[in-house]
Amino acid sequence: MNILSRPLLIAFAACVVLGGAAVAWERWSADRRDNEILSLLPDEVLKRPDLVKLAIAEAKPVYAARCASCHGTDLKGNVQTGAPNLSDSVWLYDTDSVTDIERTILYGIRSHQAKARNVTEMPAFGMRGLLSPGEIGDVVQYVLALSKRPNLAQAALSGRQIFLGKGNCYDCHGPDGLGSPDYGAPNLTVNVWDNGGDQSAIYHNIYYGLSHVCPAWYGVISLEKIRALAIYLHTVSHSAPASTSASVSYPAQSG
Ligand code: HEC
Ligand code: HEC
Repeated sequence: MNILSRPLLIAFAACVVLGGAAVAWERWSADRRDNEILSLLPDEVLKRPDLVKLAIAEAKPVYAARCASCHGTDLKGNVQTGAPNLSDSVWLYDTDSVTDIERTILYGIRSHQAKARNVTEMPAFGMRGLLSPGEIGDVVQYVLALSKRPNLAQAALSGRQIFLGKGNCYDCHGPDGLGSPDYGAPNLTVNVWDNGGDQSAIYHNIYYGLSHVCPAWYGVISLEKIRALAIYLHTVSHSAPASTSASVSYPAQSG
């Protein structure tokens, strides 16, 4: 070995050692932040912009691989699969927390997992003979009225009686149609339709019922990535504009 190449060799070795150390440091600090994402309470993570940034970066590829097929690559949902838009401010089960979203992702909806959200489903009113086609037609008009869309006023008035009476709709969707996160019954006043909002789709859903499944991801995706997904979805949806007013402007029935 000649004299000139020795310092070069030393410099090269130093570079290798330093480079390795930098990679190890990077990995160690990423692991540490991963652990922090899990060790904090889900909603506490939101107060740490560095962790939120990390969570979003981690969640995106997992979303693309596991969720996009049903919820859409743009998170906007898909009426064919009944998978809701996850980027807007309208939720079936969220009451404004990362914890709620995380729970849904962990255990799913009607997934047959013991802790799944599956209290109830949308009954098949026509198939089960609970309501006649005429009654369903009327209730469809009332559902349109609830979301302040053009409707046949007379039919909507009869539909309202069915909604609050024979149809039991109020039991899950609330007397004013605002929905219930306990049942995952959608808010019918905001004009957001997971399963299609034209008259024939609404009729079809009331006639045949609905019982959609979101898989449970516990044991499939790591806890840390599930937390990252929950933070990602909370961040995207809560930076969306607020949903439209949820008050119902339908005339009260007399008598
Ligand atoms: C096989 C299709 C399918 C896949 C895959 C899927 N979902 Fe779902 N998801 C659904 C359906 C359908 C619903 C609505 C169920 C209902 O109407 O009660 C839903 C609902 C949800 C909700 C509740 C939304 C709300 O409004 O409260 C969240 C959160 C959610 N999914 C997250 C995810 C995440 C995250 C993934 C990927 C890890 C995922 N889903 C993968 C079908 C799917
Ligand atoms: C036992 C509880 C329950 C009752 C009673 C009930 N619903 Fe539902 N409804 C649900 C649930 C849960 C969903 C969401 C189901 C899903 O997506 O899988 C739903 C979904 C819907 C949808 C679809 C909304 C959308 O976003 O596409 C409409 C419309 C609807 N219900 C109207 C009615 C009407 C009208 C009645 C009465 C005739 C009624 N529901 C009675 C629980 C109920």
